[in-house]
Amino acid sequence: MSKGLFRLKNNHRQSNDLDRVNIALLDDDVLDRIDKISLKSLSFVPKRRLVSIATAVARVEKKRVPGIFAEAGCARGGAAGLIAHLMRQDRTLHLYDVFEKIPPPDAVDGERARALFDDLDTAYEDGIKKYMDHMTSEDPLELTRQIIVSIAGEAKSPCLRFHRGLVQDTLKIDDPVAFAHIDLDWYDPTLCTLKAIMPRTVVGSVVIIDDVYFWPGCAAAVEAYFSDGTDDFVFDGVHGHLIVERIRM
Ligand SMILES: C[S@@+](CC[C@H](N)C(=O)[O-])C[C@H]1O[C@@H](n2cnc3c(N)ncnc32)[C@H](O)[C@@H]1O
Repeated sequence: MSKGLFRLKNNHRQSNDLDRVNIALLDDDVLDRIDKISLKSLSFVPKRRLVSIATAVARVEKKRVPGIFAEAGCARGGAAGLIAHLMRQDRTLHLYDVFEKIPPPDAVDGERARALFDDLDTAYEDGIKKYMDHMTSEDPLELTRQIIVSIAGEAKSPCLRFHRGLVQDTLKIDDPVAFAHIDLDWYDPTLCTLKAIMPRTVVGSVVIIDDVYFWPGCAAAVEAYFSDGTDDFVFDGVHGHLIVERIRM
């Protein structure tokens, strides 16, 4: 991948200007939902990136880009709820996660990732219940489903398809892809997901990869995937994640 993709992240002035533009494009109802997601810690994704995700989904819907939606790495479901809220009723949103403690990083993910993983001594279920203690299910996937529906509305419930397990086993896509959010932190699942999703993306589709500027393994996976060429895509890193839009097949 060209160094230009990474250089964008330091352009704070341009980034702040674009944040204001993005917020202006979203209606108050969407901004209220983003506030709720942030205040209740329903997503690990910071508010600024949630605004960016919402803007990208709205753009894909406005252009009526055909295909499925996907999120790989859902955790508590905050970002997925926002995506589900903004997508059309006739879309399908595929959601991939182990729905338990995050799998361990590899050496390529670096010592910081290993240190964080070793510190995660609280089970995934305990973490999620801390935030949603009024919910009763013992099943983390069911808790995530409830959070997504609480954000997106019951009407979107039939649009959700859950895939529990390692993405290396579960992520097989045959349909065209209109939008995907890849938020898996580590090298191997990120590369595996890019390989499954990117060849299915259609012109006008948007794929957002979180953590490219935070986890070295994620950055290395993006670099490895796009090492064969980037000509069919435009890249935007100004919001703190990498937005990849397909411009030609
Ligand atoms: C940063 S969290 C996702 C945050 C989420 N998008 C949100 O809105 O809060 C990363 C998620 O990726 C999942 N994950 C990481 N590696 C995975 C793998 N190999 N297969 C399936 N899920 C994985 C973890 O279980 C975790 O829930």
